[in-house]
Amino acid sequence: MGWYSEWLFPRLLDRALGHPRIAERRRALVSQARGDVLEIGFGSGATLPFYDPARVTALTVVEPSEGMNKRAETAIAASPVPITSIPGAGESLPFSNASFDTVVCCLTLCSVADPPRVLDEVRRVLRPGGQFLFMEHVLSEDAGRRRWQQRLNPIQRVVGVGCNLNRDSAAMIRGAGLSLGPIVQEIEPAFGAMAPLVPLVAGAAVKA
Ligand SMILES: C[S@@+](CC[C@H](N)C(=O)[O-])C[C@H]1O[C@@H](n2cnc3c(N)ncnc32)[C@H](O)[C@@H]1O
Repeated sequence: MGWYSEWLFPRLLDRALGHPRIAERRRALVSQARGDVLEIGFGSGATLPFYDPARVTALTVVEPSEGMNKRAETAIAASPVPITSIPGAGESLPFSNASFDTVVCCLTLCSVADPPRVLDEVRRVLRPGGQFLFMEHVLSEDAGRRRWQQRLNPIQRVVGVGCNLNRDSAAMIRGAGLSLGPIVQEIEPAFGAMAPLVPLVAGAAVKA
């Protein structure tokens, strides 16, 4: 699993998520970031070109995979904003309470081991009024698609190195005490035949 998860998977993922439509969604998300920013599940750094140096004071990124961190080195070297990369997991963040103005998760809550714990950490490290910016694929609103997501989830977890098709991430964000208005699920054509099974949600939840 080491060779697959740490060498091949980062490359496959970059290819699978390399479509310009996904890049545009990443841009729409992270261009809202401002101040002291934390990104959890940084992967190979695909969001990095879209942070606005005029709005972001400093960017800290957390990522547990050695293979991803290695692959991110190129993006980090070309970073438009000052960046600190910390190997680690979102469930236990090595930062004081209220350290960040913005926390970002992009296609990450699907893959973390314990999403409620990560979201508790997000809430803890955000300053009051700070924003949690997220884009995630989630459990479908459609009952038929949900059934397929549940059936295929065990395979997805292996192929996608812990990625789950069946997480209701918006509900978990609200459950963590972050304030989030209504959000809409969108089918992204760039995901091809998988698109109905990976509906996307994106938004900005606020710490009161
Ligand atoms: C689907 S990738 C998305 C990567 C990147 N955010 C992007 O937009 O391409 C999910 C990432 O979450 C990372 N991840 C898995 N478990 C994690 C955890 N417990 N805490 C933080 N990141 C985690 C994975 O290593 C992987 O890099």
